Parts: sequence; structure tokens; C-alpha cells
Amino acid sequence: MFSTPHKGIRNFLPQLSMLAGSCDYTDPEEVKMLKVRLEETLELLEEHAQAENEIILSALEEKAPGSGTHDQEDHHKLHQMQDKLRAGLNHLASPGIRPEEAMRLGNELYQDISLLHAAHLEHMVEEETVTQSLLWQYFTDGELLQLQGRIIGSMNPELLLKWWKYILPAQNPTERLKLLTNIQASTPADFFEQVLAVAKKNLSASAFEKLAAGLALVGVD
Ligand SMILES: [Fe+2]
Repeated sequence: MFSTPHKGIRNFLPQLSMLAGSCDYTDPEEVKMLKVRLEETLELLEEHAQAENEIILSALEEKAPGSGTHDQEDHHKLHQMQDKLRAGLNHLASPGIRPEEAMRLGNELYQDISLLHAAHLEHMVEEETVTQSLLWQYFTDGELLQLQGRIIGSMNPELLLKWWKYILPAQNPTERLKLLTNIQASTPADFFEQVLAVAKKNLSASAFEKLAAGLALVGVD
């Protein structure tokens, strides 16, 4: 239930950290680029936590009251850290900020991104172990697939493509082929073409070749 989106999160959070660490905070253009990346990161993180709260954890709460509380509280704490980052970068991007102030705030932002990254790593492992065990205990495989379908169905195509951009390069070839085969079987052909284009753009040439060969074997042109 968790491993696919979590691979994407483990891809984009270190990228954000790298960008924040190498940013020239006295250059408004670089701050603007970092802001765009931060906003995309926060959009994905917030959508992910919301889907977990409203679909997975609420279903778990119905079966075993109290069992979703720990993760919901984690989500609340993570949300507060994310709001702090957003406010910090908005301040940095405000016009007329002095260079020394921009560098000081940039360093604070970089450290806050590290704290958020660390908190997400710990939270994801908890969900993949403790919460996943509870899901296996209380739900059948069919019910879990239904929950997974509801999560994917809750996202618009544009948001899904943003997720695939980070998830596909983070997966191993077996996971990637399985995911693409499932997407091909369950979505319109033009959307699948867009997913393939995202794969081509974001995978290495050899990884994409391997994927294309696998898809041809299972009957996808
Ligand atoms: Fe979560």
C-alpha cells in the first residue's frame, strides 16, 4: 500500500535538499526556481497524507479504532513542518530582502528541509512495517486493492503524471514494468502514452530500453 508512492518521496526529498543546499539565495531567479520545486514537493506530500488519512487510515479506524491515530498525528506534525517551509520560502522570495538576511534565512530553510526529510524517512518506514502489518491483519488482498484503486482514482491525470515523474526512476525494473503494465490495462491509451513519455524523459536510456522491451513482451507497443 505504501511502497510505490514512498519510492517517489525518497526520490524528490533528497533532490529538494540538494537544490536548497546549492541555491544562491541572493539571486531572485534561483530562489524562484527553488520555490517552484518546493511548491511541487509540498503539493505531492500534502496530497499523499490526505489520501492516507481519508482512505487508508479511516478504513483502518473502522476495523480497529485507535490504530490509525499514530500515523494521523505524524501527518499533522509533518504538515506543520511543511507550512513552516512554505512560509520561510515565501519570506525569502519577498521583494527587497537584503542579501545577508537572504543567506541567513536560506541556511535556516536548508536545515528545516533536512528535518522534514528525516521525519518523512522515519514516518514512511513506520507505515511500511507497523501500519502495513495492521492492513494485512484486518483486510483481504481484494479489499486492499480496492483501497489502492480509490487512492489512484482520487487524483487527476496531471497530479498522477507528477507522481510518475518521481516514482518511475526510483523503482527497480520489475516494479516499473508491473506498474506500467497495470496502468496500460486500466487507463485510456492517450494517458498511457503520456506516462510512457514521462518514463522516457526521466529514466536513463538503458532503463527505458529495458522497460520498452518488457512492455513489448507483454504485448504493449
Ligand atoms: Fe503517511
